[in-house]
Amino acid sequence: MSYLFPTYKRWEVEPAHAKGSYITGVDGKVYLDFTSGIGVCNLGHCHPEVEQAVVEQLKKFWHVSNLFPQSIQEKAAKLLVEASGLDLVFFANSGAEANEAAIKLARKATGRSKVISFTNSFHGRTFGSMAATGQDKIKQGFGPMLETFTHLPFNDTESLLQEIGKDTAAVILEVIQGEGGIHAADVDFLANIQKACKETGALVIIDEIQTGVGRTGKPFAFQHFNLKPDIITVAKGLGSGFPIGAVIGKGNLQDAFGPGSHGSTFGGNPMAVSAAIATMELIFEGAFLNESASMGEYLFEQITTKLGELDGVKEVRGLGLMLGIEISANIAEVLSTLRSKGLIALPAGENVIRLLPPLNITKAEVDQAVDLLEKTLSHITSATV
Ligand SMILES: Cc1ncc(COP(=O)(O)O)c(C=O)c1O
Repeated sequence: MSYLFPTYKRWEVEPAHAKGSYITGVDGKVYLDFTSGIGVCNLGHCHPEVEQAVVEQLKKFWHVSNLFPQSIQEKAAKLLVEASGLDLVFFANSGAEANEAAIKLARKATGRSKVISFTNSFHGRTFGSMAATGQDKIKQGFGPMLETFTHLPFNDTESLLQEIGKDTAAVILEVIQGEGGIHAADVDFLANIQKACKETGALVIIDEIQTGVGRTGKPFAFQHFNLKPDIITVAKGLGSGFPIGAVIGKGNLQDAFGPGSHGSTFGGNPMAVSAAIATMELIFEGAFLNESASMGEYLFEQITTKLGELDGVKEVRGLGLMLGIEISANIAEVLSTLRSKGLIALPAGENVIRLLPPLNITKAEVDQAVDLLEKTLSHITSATV
């Protein structure tokens, strides 16, 4: 019997330890991990430089509160600002909390309350971020949602132009919807969002919680497009497994988040922040992202060549090392078969295998994963669903 609320349907693999791209189960079986803890351990498990940074901080102090100036917070914020081109950072503990803060910031800065988000989006499980989320299954049973949010069809400019107005505080979106099934926004749609927000005074909030910190081959996914967001939210991969979230905003929003306006006891916790600094120094500097982007292209190419023609594979899509394979078979069964063969992957949307390997994955590991995918998917057919 379990003493935990059964909010997660758990897999049969219990990890004993994990290193790099591999997890070893308590039974000694070794698995190639193409989930990175759901887009979190982007440097692989237990990266030695992140470990060293956290251990060093562990020996100095663990927590003092945000009433004290903390130069490591400033250092982490500077790295985020330099990588994003925005100006100011608020640290939270998770993605949902970062989105809550972003929504509060946009409402306070504009003095407006309406927020537009999109169908199939995922923004978190707190009351505000759940209400922002465009998937009914996430909200079922929790009663009336906040009226602040309107959900429009993703990639539909016409409905956006009909809805957005002088009462819109913000438009919030993922440029590549992760949980929703690896769906990218159209370039034109993004340009139209930017233009409509400029005309109406609404803010553009880009949720980079899954796509950020290098996942798509650039520091942030919005940088693939001609976008100038007012606010971005980050979490997951920022701390390599230590819980941290962040809101990064333009300097002109400063007054809306003055002393006492928003806060978090643990936000910017020294352990998480030291992990974030080490993570960003490794990912944002040198050739890391170029190599990671090339590996993403290699993975995409291998999947399309070796799996693209299989009967049960409908589509391969994504960017960088955030890829989805839409299949015509029961996703839970396929993922279970993959695990039995030694590859751990994620579901997304309806029938999508989501691959979020570490950003420093090697070619040999990619080849191993593609081989296991091929062995599994060659047995399914379009009639298997
Ligand atoms: C795009 C996006 N936003 C927000 C969240 C929520 O993040 P957290 O689970 O850290 O609250 C997630 C988590 O999957 C996400 O993918």
